[in-house]
Parts: sequence; C-alpha cells; structure tokens
Amino acid sequence: MEEDNQINNPAKRKKTDSSTDRQGSKLWGGRFVGNTDAIMEKFNASIDYDKRMWDADIRGSKAYVKALEKAKLVTTEEMSRILRGLDEISEEWSKGGFVIKPGDEDIHTANERRLKELIGAPAGKLHTGRSRNDQVVTDMRLWLRDAISTLTGNALQLITTMVERAAAEIDVLFPGYTHMQRAQPIRWSHWILSHAVALSRDVDRLQEIKKRVNVLPLGSGAIAGTPFDIDRELLRKELDFDSISLNSMDATGQRDFVVEFLFWASLCLTHLSKMAEDLMLYSTKEFSFIALSDAYSTGSSLMPQKKNADSLELIRSKAGRVFGSCSGFMMTLKGLPSTYNKDLQEDKEAMFDCYDTVHAVLQVSTGVMSTLKINRTVMEAALSPDMLATDLAYYLVRKGVPFREAHGISGKAVSVAESKNILLNQLTVDDLRAVSLLFESDVSSVWDYWSSVEQYSAPGGTAKSSVAAQVDHLKNWLLRNSVTST
Ligand code: ARG
Repeated sequence: MEEDNQINNPAKRKKTDSSTDRQGSKLWGGRFVGNTDAIMEKFNASIDYDKRMWDADIRGSKAYVKALEKAKLVTTEEMSRILRGLDEISEEWSKGGFVIKPGDEDIHTANERRLKELIGAPAGKLHTGRSRNDQVVTDMRLWLRDAISTLTGNALQLITTMVERAAAEIDVLFPGYTHMQRAQPIRWSHWILSHAVALSRDVDRLQEIKKRVNVLPLGSGAIAGTPFDIDRELLRKELDFDSISLNSMDATGQRDFVVEFLFWASLCLTHLSKMAEDLMLYSTKEFSFIALSDAYSTGSSLMPQKKNADSLELIRSKAGRVFGSCSGFMMTLKGLPSTYNKDLQEDKEAMFDCYDTVHAVLQVSTGVMSTLKINRTVMEAALSPDMLATDLAYYLVRKGVPFREAHGISGKAVSVAESKNILLNQLTVDDLRAVSLLFESDVSSVWDYWSSVEQYSAPGGTAKSSVAAQVDHLKNWLLRNSVTST
C-alpha cells in the first residue's frame, strides 16, 4: 500500500538510495541540481533491452579511441589503457559477469561507467566529440548488420530444404486451387517452389537493405558533426562499413534502415504465413495431403485424438506481430522534428523483437518443411476430371476454335455432365458431339492428368521440364548467395 502511494504521488515518493547522488555522476548530470524521479529513471532507461548491443558498443568505442589517438586527443598510452579496459568489459559481458548498476541508463552509459571503474581518468576522454546520438545509431547498424547475416543464413537454409524437397518429389501431382476452388492439376513441387521463389526475393531484398544499413554514422556528433580531427575513413575501415554518412543531422536523426528492416520482416513473414495457411489446409483430415511431423505438432488437453498444427498457426500469427511493430514504429516517426529525439529510443525493441521473431519462424519453417510427409496417393486421387475442363477447351483451340468460343463449348460440356450427374470424362463422344461436332474420338486423350501438366512447359509452368528448370535456377541462385552471404 505504502509503495502504491509513493508511486501515485511523486511528492511522497522516496528517492532510492542509489538515486541520491546519481545526477552528478550521470553522463549529462552537470547542469542538473535535483534528482531524477524514480519512475522517470525507469521510464527513461533502455539498458534492459539495449544491453544486447554490448559487443557493438565496445567495437564502436575501440574504433573511436583509435581515431581520437590519431587526432592526438588521447595519447598512445591512454589509447592502450582504454583498449585494454574495453577488452576487459567485453570479457565480462561474454562471461555473464558484467554487473549492471542503478543509474546505468543505457548500454553506452553502462560501458563507460565500467571503463572508468577499471582504468580511471582516461575513460573520460573516450566520449570526446562523440554523442550518444551518433553512438547509438552506430551500435544499431553494427548489430543489425550481423543480425541480417544470421537471418540470411536461416532463409537460405529454408530455401535449400524446399528446393531439395521439390527436386525429390517432382513426380507428384495434386490439385491447384484459385479462390480456394479446384483449378488445375499441378506438380506438388510447383507449389513448393512458388513459396521458395518468394523467399528468394526476400533474401535479395535483405541484401539490398544491408547495403543501406552498412553506412557509418560515427563522427556525426549530436547534430552538427565533429569539430575535431576525427578520421571518419579510419572509423569506416576499422568497423568495416561500406560508406560514410553524408549529413550529420540525417545520420543521427533518421531510422530508415530500421523501418526497412521491419518492413522486410513483415513481408517475409507474410509470405510464410501464406505458406503455413496452405499447409494447414492440406494437413486437415478432409484434405490429408500432408502429415506434419510430431516434432512440429501439439495435442489437445481435452480431445485425445487431436494433432494440432501449432507450428503453422504460430508461423501464420507472427506476420501480424511484426507488422504491428513496423506500423507502430512508423507512427512514432511520423511528424518527429529533425535530428535526435528520445522517441527514437523506441527503435530498438521493435528491431530486436522482429529479429527474434523472424529468426525463430525461419528455423521452425525449415523444420516443418524438412519433416512433413506427403500422402501421394491421396493427393493424386484428389484430382478430378472437372479440373481438365480448360484442357477440353484447349483441345478445341488446337482445332482452330477461338478460345472464347472453346471456353463456352467446354462450359456447356461441364453443364451436360452435371445435369447427367456424371463426371466430365464420363461423357461419351456422342454426348460431346452434341455440344460441338469438332469433338472426335481422340478427345479421350484429354482425360490424363499427366499429359495435362506436361502442356505447361513454357518457362514458369508446371511441366516437369519447367519445374526442373526452376529447381536448377534456384540451386544456382543458392550457390551464388551462399558465397556472398558468408
Ligand atoms: N538510449 C538512447 C537511445 O536509445 C541513446 C541515445 C540518447 N541520446 C540522448 N541525447 N539522450 O536512443
């Protein structure tokens, strides 16, 4: 109760012990007299989540101290002490021994506080000419660059699994649907590759984004740039960035690269949600085209017979989650004034969460796709002669009938079969000739699913040669990409 009152009433709220003399020790404490309210302290802090960037933060600082030494703002001896201190901090983080202290507002503050504890006065020179505004965005770009490499690897793994599966199961046919109605017979591999192709575009897109992520902002200061002789080219080389930001206000005040990543995640997961939806349908008892492995299914606590496709449902759901982060962060950005505003601190949770989500979804999708079993007999038995009505029209087209007319005649045949309550291929030649005299006994050749799919041999089609060409294309694309992504 007492605590409640304190929280609700700032006047009553106790200053925590740690906050008593904290203001003076803050990076920005000089001009402040009063202490930060405890609620504000918590509200303002980002350490809980930005500590994930500890390694990027240390890498950035190690490069920066080298630029400071070159500019003669620290001595070589001071540089060595700072570098050693930073290595020690790095060791602490990697071994889980780094202790976050009250007042460690964010990862930048925490690392600098620790550096001062370890090496004393020279630590105070590290931030010369640097601002957390250029530091945070440098850290984020370094972090995201690595994250993009990991996600590229995950996506390539999934595509590889799908392409291998498509190659192995190229001889399986099943119904293709439009509007979720039976449309035309297709190869199962054609379906797999339709999703693999979309994912390959996602990988291409991610590589494009990476170019725009890999730009060095360090040396932009808070807004105006750096007044010191900081060699930004040295920083670029040290941190392996492709290029240097052109304008310090833009560099510190925009988060286009984060938005692009969030949009990328949204689109990639939209693709996977579509694939998951198809698979969910195919795995129902009514379809029974596929069976999900037990490793990616769960049971019901009430109905013993149930095997639920939870993996697929979760994959489908995550598209909504990441798009929520994307649109939420866009709302945060809309109407912000130029340069750094604290609103931008919202970028990190969105970025981390989208990364974690896509990272998991890609791995689970790979697991699902590599372990599911297909039921070839059921898939092929699900094909029905009405799905060859287009072929019936094409039979007439090949005899010179304009397609529109042929479509009408074939439609008539469908209607006759329906009125006789028989399947389309059960119509006799006489039945068909009653609709059009162009039908002859060779019309029986139309009722073959295998020759039907083989007609679609133009590039991109579902004929075996076209699907094999898609497999080859993607295999080559994978080869090129596994080289560039490492
Ligand atoms: N934690 C801050 C962020 O995430 C770092 C930058 C703070 N800059 C500042 N001027 N207060 O955005």
